[in-house]
Amino acid sequence: MFDHPNGSDGCRASIWRRIWNKKHTSVDLPLHKLDGFDLLNVEQFNALTQPFIKWMEPIVGKDVLEVGCGSGAFLKNIGTPRTFSGIDYSQFAIDRIRKEIDGTFVVAEANSLPFAASHFDIVFSFGVFFYFDSLQYAQKCLLEQLRVLRPGGSIFVFEVNDEDKKALYRQIRSDEPRSRIQQTHLKADHLFYTKDFFYQFAQRHNLRCEIRDESEMGISFHSGASYRYAVKIS
Ligand SMILES: C[S@@+](CC[C@H](N)C(=O)[O-])C[C@H]1O[C@@H](n2cnc3c(N)ncnc32)[C@H](O)[C@@H]1O
Repeated sequence: MFDHPNGSDGCRASIWRRIWNKKHTSVDLPLHKLDGFDLLNVEQFNALTQPFIKWMEPIVGKDVLEVGCGSGAFLKNIGTPRTFSGIDYSQFAIDRIRKEIDGTFVVAEANSLPFAASHFDIVFSFGVFFYFDSLQYAQKCLLEQLRVLRPGGSIFVFEVNDEDKKALYRQIRSDEPRSRIQQTHLKADHLFYTKDFFYQFAQRHNLRCEIRDESEMGISFHSGASYRYAVKIS
């Protein structure tokens, strides 16, 4: 039931796919917990989203797509774009976000976006790229984001695991209560990226790439901020 439609899913991605499909069915959880931010209360989650949203502004009047939109916890915070759109591979997530936000929400894979070319002003993802199986998958995902982006638009990839901070990641994830989470999902590890992966992608497509370390973004209450960075390609 949870296998990849084209049979190419590797180990990490299929484990996470199962976890996400199950998680999005927990209807009694607050939205941000449904979307995986279990260690934060709602005020902290809202504060977490702010520097990322500020970076994407102006959003008013824009056509915005979120890749891996989940149940809509992040998207609900972004204000008033012209249109909201999102994809997620979990049908449960899409069912839920349709109840939360008026927009176009579709079950789809991040590497195959069901939208026409040049359709959006902003395409972003928050806490999604580290679930992918491989850099090849991520590459295809970025190419798809570029295809649906209007000329002059921007792609934002938030919450990217920094290859250079793997040791710190391991140390933080072995602490409680993370270790409890990991015991339930023993093989559920994450993908890491060098910053060069994004710089080189942008260079190949004659685009600009700006990267910010999340440790500099004033969100130290979020443990992931110490080993993650955020990317803008425009
Ligand atoms: C940590 S949650 C974040 C949800 C949302 N971005 C937010 O911040 O509220 C990650 C989401 O990415 C989705 N996801 C992970 N890998 C995906 C993929 N390859 N294609 C589509 N969705 C994916 C999961 O189903 C989950 O809803």
